[in-house]
Amino acid sequence: MSDRIEQLADRMTLQEQVAILSGEDFWSVPAIPRLGIGKLRVTDGPNGARGGGSLIGGIKSASFPVGIALSASWNVGLVQEIGAALADEVKSKGAHMLLAPTVNIHRSVSNGRNFECYSEDPILTAEMAVAYILGLQGQGIGAAVKHFAGNESEIERTTISSEIDERTLREVYLIPFEWAVKKARTWGVMNSYNKLNGIFTSEHNWLLTKLLRQEWGYDGIVMSDWFGSHSTAGTVNAGLDLEMPGPTRDRGQKLIEAVNSGAVSEAILRQRVVAMLRLMERVGSLDDNRPFVEAANDRPEHRALIRRAGAEAAVLLKNNGVLPLRGDGTIAVIGPNAKTAQIMGGGSAQLNPHYRISPWDGLLDALGEDQLRYGMGCTNHRFEPLLHGKFAVDYFANDSLSGEPVFTTTQEEAQAFWVGSVAEGKVDPSHFSARFTGSFTPEASGEYRVGIYAAGFGKVFVDGRLLADAWTNWVKGRTFFEEGCDEVVGTIPLEAGRSYEIAIEFATKPYSNLGISAFACGIGLPLGDDAIVEAVRLARNADTAIVFVGRNGEWDTEGSDLSSITLPGRQDELVAAIAQANPNTVVVLQTGGPVEMAWLGSVAAVLEAWYPGQEAGNAIADVLTGEAEPSGRLPQTFPVRWSDNPAHSQDREVYPGLDGKVRYEEGVFVGYRHYDKTGTAPLFPFGFGLGYTEFELSELHVDDSEFEANGSVMVSLTVANIGARDGAAVVQLYVSDDQASDPRPAKELKAFRKVQVTAGEARQITMTLDARAFAFYREKARHWLVESGSFTLRLGLSSADLKLTAKLQRNTTLMLPV
Ligand code: BGC
Repeated sequence: MSDRIEQLADRMTLQEQVAILSGEDFWSVPAIPRLGIGKLRVTDGPNGARGGGSLIGGIKSASFPVGIALSASWNVGLVQEIGAALADEVKSKGAHMLLAPTVNIHRSVSNGRNFECYSEDPILTAEMAVAYILGLQGQGIGAAVKHFAGNESEIERTTISSEIDERTLREVYLIPFEWAVKKARTWGVMNSYNKLNGIFTSEHNWLLTKLLRQEWGYDGIVMSDWFGSHSTAGTVNAGLDLEMPGPTRDRGQKLIEAVNSGAVSEAILRQRVVAMLRLMERVGSLDDNRPFVEAANDRPEHRALIRRAGAEAAVLLKNNGVLPLRGDGTIAVIGPNAKTAQIMGGGSAQLNPHYRISPWDGLLDALGEDQLRYGMGCTNHRFEPLLHGKFAVDYFANDSLSGEPVFTTTQEEAQAFWVGSVAEGKVDPSHFSARFTGSFTPEASGEYRVGIYAAGFGKVFVDGRLLADAWTNWVKGRTFFEEGCDEVVGTIPLEAGRSYEIAIEFATKPYSNLGISAFACGIGLPLGDDAIVEAVRLARNADTAIVFVGRNGEWDTEGSDLSSITLPGRQDELVAAIAQANPNTVVVLQTGGPVEMAWLGSVAAVLEAWYPGQEAGNAIADVLTGEAEPSGRLPQTFPVRWSDNPAHSQDREVYPGLDGKVRYEEGVFVGYRHYDKTGTAPLFPFGFGLGYTEFELSELHVDDSEFEANGSVMVSLTVANIGARDGAAVVQLYVSDDQASDPRPAKELKAFRKVQVTAGEARQITMTLDARAFAFYREKARHWLVESGSFTLRLGLSSADLKLTAKLQRNTTLMLPV
C-alpha cells in the first residue's frame, strides 16, 4: 500500500472516513476537499457507459454488443479491445469506474438478465470477464465485476435466498469472480441483492472476507448493489466497503455511532477506508478535481469496432446454402425486428445510444433499395408502444394532484424514470404527483389498446375517460426492477385523423424497496391477420425472404424473468407462414438467449444475432451478405423446449423459487453438463455454430510430462481451413474425469482458442491446462482434488463435435489446498 494512502487515512477524521464509505448521490462518492480527495464517479455498465443521468433519455453513449453476444464471439482479444474502448466511454462521462462486467451464470434459460451475462459455462464466462477487465483497467478505469454471488434469476431478486452447496459454488458460480480477482486483478466487486444460503451477500462474511480476501487475496473494494445494503455494522464487518447509492441509508451518522459503540472496530473501519482510498488512487479520482463534464463522443473507431464485434458474435445455426446472399434477386424483408433496431436489453444496462442501425437500414446500405420489399407481419412487443408527443407536465408537492402545481415543464415521451432530484427540487422525490397532458392523433381507425405500468400509481384518460387504471387496485408485478405493476390495458375505438386528449396521472407510492418512481404509457393498434397475409404475399413474390424476429429489451430485461421461451406474439406463426411461401426463408433471431423453434425444419437458414449494439443492422447485413464470416458459437445450449433446461422442475423451490428460497438442486450439472447427464439432445449444442467455410482438426499432440508432478498439460493441434473462404474456427477443449469418486460432469470446457485461418491454409495452435482443469472440489476436505486414474481430453468445434481425443493417466492424487 502506498504511504500516501496510509497518511491520508491517518489524517481523516471519523466523519471523513465514514463519508467515503457511502455514496453521495446515485453515481458518486463524495470528495473531501480539505484533504484534496476528489469525487469518485461510477457509471453503468456493461454494454456502454450511460453516464450520470437517468435510465431514460440521458446523454448519448456508444452502445456495444451485450454480454451474451461478446461471449458468442469466443474472442478474448476482441473483448479486451472492447474493454479498452469502454474505458474511453467511461472517461467521456467524467467517471472512473464501470459497473461491469456481469458474470452470473445462465442457470435457467428464462433469466431476464441472461443477455447481460456471458454463458452457462464458468470458464467461458471467466475468460470473457478477464479480457474485459484487463481492457478496461489497462486504461485506468476500474471494473466492478457483478453480482457476487448467486444472482441467477430476477425473481424476488432483492430478497430471495439462493441455496447453493459449496462445491457447486466453487466449481461453477464463483469461478468467474475468482478469475477476475486472480487473473485480471479487478479493482471492484459488486455484491448481489440476494441472500446466499440465508445470509444477504452484503453481510456475508464468508463470501466477502474469508473467501474473497483471505483466500483469493483480493485487495479491491466491494460495493453494494443499488440499495442492496441492509445494515450498518453487519455489512461493514462482513466486508462491504461501499454502500451505494447515496445519500446513505445505513451509514453516515449510524456508522459513526456503530464505531463509537464498538459495534464496528476502528481496525475494520480503517480496512474499508484504505480499500476505498486505494481504489481512488488506482482510478485517479483521488487527484481528479476537474469540473464534472459529460460528453457524447460518437467515435468512428468505436463504430467500426462495434460493427466488427456484432458480426463476429452472430451464430449461424442452420444454412442449406442460401447464405451468404448472392446479391441478386428480390428479398422480402419481414418481421417486427426488421425496421426496429434491437440493440440492447433492458434495465440498468440500457443507455441512450448515439444511433441505432436497423436490419432494414443495414440491408439498404449493402444492397440498395431496388431489391428490397418490406412487410412487418406481426409485432413482438411486451408493452403497448410508447406514446410520443408533446406533453405538458405539472408537478404537485403532494400525492393527490391537489392544489396548484409547484413546477411545470414539457416532455416528448409518455414515460418517466425519476432519479435523484425531481422537478428541480420543488417536490420530495418520495412524495409527489404529476399530470402529463397531451394529445394523440391516430393514423388509422380501429380499436386501440392503451396501457400503463408504474412504480407508483398511474392512470390514463383519453378524452376524459379513464381507460387504464394502475392505481385503484395496484398490484406488484414484473416491471421497473420488480418495483412496478404489470401493464394495465384498456381499449377504445379511435378514428383516423382526429385528435384525442390524453391525460396521465402519476403519484408516488408510500414504500418501495429501491425507491423507484417511474411509469410508461403506450398506445397501439393490434396488427390483424392482414399483416401476415401481406407478408406472405411479399415472400411468395420474392427470391429470398428474411424474417427478423425475436424479442427486445422489454422481454430480455433486468427485473423480470421470461415466462416462456417461445417467440412472443404471433412470430412463430409468421415464420411458419413465410417458410411455406418461400423455400429460401432465412430467419434472423435477436434474443438474449434460446427460443423454441417449431418451424426449424421448414426454413433454409437461421442466424442468431443477439443484441449487438448500435451497429446492429450493419453487423447483421455484413454476415448475411458474406462481407463478414459468421464466426460466433453458442455460449448457451439451445434446448428443444424449455422443460429440458436444468433449472426446469416441478418443484417450485428449484425454479422460480418458493417461500423466499431458490434451490440450485442440479448442482454442478448446469448447461451442457445437464444435457450430457440426462442424455437429452439439445436443439443446438453449446459451442455450436456454422461458418461459410469448413475446418478440419488433426495432429493432436499432448505433452503430459508434467501431469503427474503438477497436473499441467500442453496440447497442440493443427487447424486446417478446407473450404473456399477465409474464416475463424473456435477450437474447444473439454476434460472428462473417467473415474471420479464423486459424480462429475461427463465433460467440461477447460480451454478454447479462436483462430483465423485463410482458405486452404493450416495453423498449429497450442493450449495449456493447469491442475485446476482436472480438479473437482471436495467439500468435506476443503480441497481441490485431481484424483488418480484416467482422464480424457476431447477437442473439437462444438461440445457435440469432439473428434480428437487423448487419454491421460495419473497414479497419485493431487491435493490443491484452497
Ligand atoms: C443492478 C446493477 C446496477 C445498479 C446501478 C442495479 O439494479 O442490479 O447491476 O449496476 O442497479 O444501476
